[in-house]
Amino acid sequence: NKTMSLFFCIYVTCLLFSSARRNDVPVIGILAQELHVQRSNRSAYIAASYVKFLEAAGARVVPVRLSRPLEEYKRLFNSINGFIIPGGRASVVSSRFQRAAQIFYELAIEAKKRGDYFPLWGTCLGFELLFYMTSEKTELSLTNTSGVMLPMSFTNGSRMFRGFPTQLMEDMASESLTGHSHKWGLKLSNHKKNKVLKNFFKVISTNTDGRIEFVSTVEAYDYPIYGTQWHPEKNAFEWRKPYIPHSPSAIKTSFYMADFFVNEARKSFHRFRSEEEERRELMYNYNPVHGSSTSPFEQIYIFG
Ligand SMILES: *[C@@H]1O[C@H](CO)[C@@H](O)[C@H](O)[C@H]1NC(C)=O
Ligand SMILES: *[C@@H]1O[C@H](CO)[C@@H](O)[C@H](O)[C@H]1NC(C)=O
Ligand SMILES: *[C@@H]1O[C@H](CO)[C@@H](O)[C@H](O)[C@H]1NC(C)=O
Repeated sequence: NKTMSLFFCIYVTCLLFSSARRNDVPVIGILAQELHVQRSNRSAYIAASYVKFLEAAGARVVPVRLSRPLEEYKRLFNSINGFIIPGGRASVVSSRFQRAAQIFYELAIEAKKRGDYFPLWGTCLGFELLFYMTSEKTELSLTNTSGVMLPMSFTNGSRMFRGFPTQLMEDMASESLTGHSHKWGLKLSNHKKNKVLKNFFKVISTNTDGRIEFVSTVEAYDYPIYGTQWHPEKNAFEWRKPYIPHSPSAIKTSFYMADFFVNEARKSFHRFRSEEEERRELMYNYNPVHGSSTSPFEQIYIFG
């Protein structure tokens, strides 16, 4: 039957084509953050909300620990399909956190130049660090934004928001669906003045603290590098701060942000050399603990 065989051909072609162009088993690295409460040897953590955020959109997670040798970071880079630089408190100029982020950032840039796709994302402090790594300057200004919910002020068309439902885009622009918790920000005017930053990053949203208009979402023009000054991972998974929105549209915002980044990771074909090695590295080897009464996080993973 001709119709059947034509259908079969299209089906097979689609299968071959899509499996050739898409990695449906992406693994994403999350960089650990400096832990300031010293617990014996334990000096780094990963907030579980970042892990759940990615898992909910179809990725598995590998923790990327601080103070590891360059060779280990390179091996991981060649094994995973994307990298998240989280928020937290650490120096963007010189810290264990900055060193590890810088190594992955440079590897991602080199990879793209060779035609190898490796997406990278910075949130909050990770976002601020993106600007330092790109321009080698700290162009930040103090902003009055430690604990506020803000609506999105979209400025330019983007890859990031292209696939978002129209209704959600309207809600993001009219409701306060993004939680901000930062003391510093990149003024829009400083982004414009700094040629390197201006040519590298497209500003896709801004916000204001009432006085200063700062950049709140970016994507790199020529690299799969993205960042938010706000916290998309918190809406669905953190409950301890009044500035974290939990409305239905806030939860959808979390999901669509993760969906976008995981789809970027599906364009990367790095993989572990063996299943054994992959199993050893996955986050499933670790257990999160309930955050202490003073912690801003519901659950964290603690590392040495
Ligand atoms: C610190 O780490 C070392 C090696 O990882 C371990 O042998 C030692 O027991 C740890 N000390 C404490 C106080 O946890
Ligand atoms: C900072 O913002 C808060 C509202 O989020 C406002 O109440 C406060 O007056 C602001 N402080 C300054 C110094 O502008
Ligand atoms: C992007 O947004 C910024 C901030 O509003 C604006 O200054 C700039 O002109 C926009 N660029 C494009 C290409 O639309």
